[in-house]
Amino acid sequence: MTEQVEIKEGLDGVYITRSTICKVDGQQGKLYYRGYKIEDLAEKSSYEEVCFLLLYGKLPNKTELEDFNKKLKGERKISENLKMLIKGFSTANTLDVLRTAMSAISYDDNQPYSADETENIEKAIRIISKTPTIAAAIGRLKQGKEIIEPDDSLGHAENFLYMLIGSKPDKEKSKLMDVMFILHAEHSSNASTFATLVACSTLADIYAGVTAGMAALKGPLHGGADEAAIRMMREIGNPENTETYIEEALAGKRKIMGFGHRVYKTYDPRARILKTYLDKIKANSGEEINNFISISLRAEKMMIEKLGKSHGIWPNVDFFSGPLYLYLGIRIELFDTVFASARTVGWCSHVIEYWKNNKLFRPLEEYIGELDLGYTPIEERT
Ligand code: ACO
Repeated sequence: MTEQVEIKEGLDGVYITRSTICKVDGQQGKLYYRGYKIEDLAEKSSYEEVCFLLLYGKLPNKTELEDFNKKLKGERKISENLKMLIKGFSTANTLDVLRTAMSAISYDDNQPYSADETENIEKAIRIISKTPTIAAAIGRLKQGKEIIEPDDSLGHAENFLYMLIGSKPDKEKSKLMDVMFILHAEHSSNASTFATLVACSTLADIYAGVTAGMAALKGPLHGGADEAAIRMMREIGNPENTETYIEEALAGKRKIMGFGHRVYKTYDPRARILKTYLDKIKANSGEEINNFISISLRAEKMMIEKLGKSHGIWPNVDFFSGPLYLYLGIRIELFDTVFASARTVGWCSHVIEYWKNNKLFRPLEEYIGELDLGYTPIEERT
């Protein structure tokens, strides 16, 4: 009898490459982009600066940032063909439409695959810039509203909100949107980044990779968790019902979305940052959002008591995002689409790094079925 090989289910604990882009310290609850603490970036930086950092590996000086901003702004507009495509699918799932549009962006590029790093950074800038424009257009059409063109006087995050809502956001909302973009920009080899790398390891183009990333992001175990979490809060309804709901869910072996993580066995630092914003938005939020805030804080307390230290299940980035997105005027059906818009830079940075030393991903599976079966013609099968 042959010995069974060891299977690392879900590639748990398996290293797939070496990278200088992102460090997730799951024991200490720390996150770094290119060596910089996420707390510092969220407080002091901007999404544009973080994009530069992730793509080029260093913080830009003033001139570099100005040039980079110019390039980003120059790529914001989307083609009429793309608008027609989005309009044709305006009732479909928003992330499905974004993913389809991402495939279509490559049609406008005469040479979607390039081995040249500078060219790939140009392509990445195109993807980073156009994705929020597409996401906002999808959001507008979903509400039966007209698409709004980008405004070059606005920064990346505030321009996204402007294209979605139709009015220029105030400073406080622009900062919050920017922080949400920064926190969702990158997170090492998660499922969607891995999917991106797998696609691009075949030397498929960067658009194909980002499309694969968006496909993997969709599920409730990954980028769809923020939507699932807010739907749960809606089901709970009254904050007073929170503890009973959680108790029953756990007794029924149901997962509470927005908690738990493959790598973090303590509080996700992104969730910690987002939690501080709940307090800041309270005074200006309506009853529904304030209810969600109360529910999320009660659920957080109970989950930490029940599963935190004992099972390593703590809030992740998706738990507190819901009330914050709603406060910004982003409707539930658009949550994962916004996440995808922010994550484009992470996916692209990883592809560009991986292509420097590309190796086709081709793992093995252990075959445990039968062999050498006799072929029976269809007429003789019962
Ligand atoms: N609520 C209740 N129990 C949980 C939760 C949760 N959110 N997460 C994990 N558990 C339990 C599982 O039921 C399982 O229990 P068991 O051993 O008694 O069967 C145990 O913890 C291990 O869970 P797995 O899902 O096998 O562990 P994994 O490492 O694959 O978990 C995952 C990672 C998939 C994120 C998981 O925690 C989960 O499903 N969380 C909810 C979805 C979510 O919030 N996803 C977003 C992650 S962040 C991001 O992608 C942006």
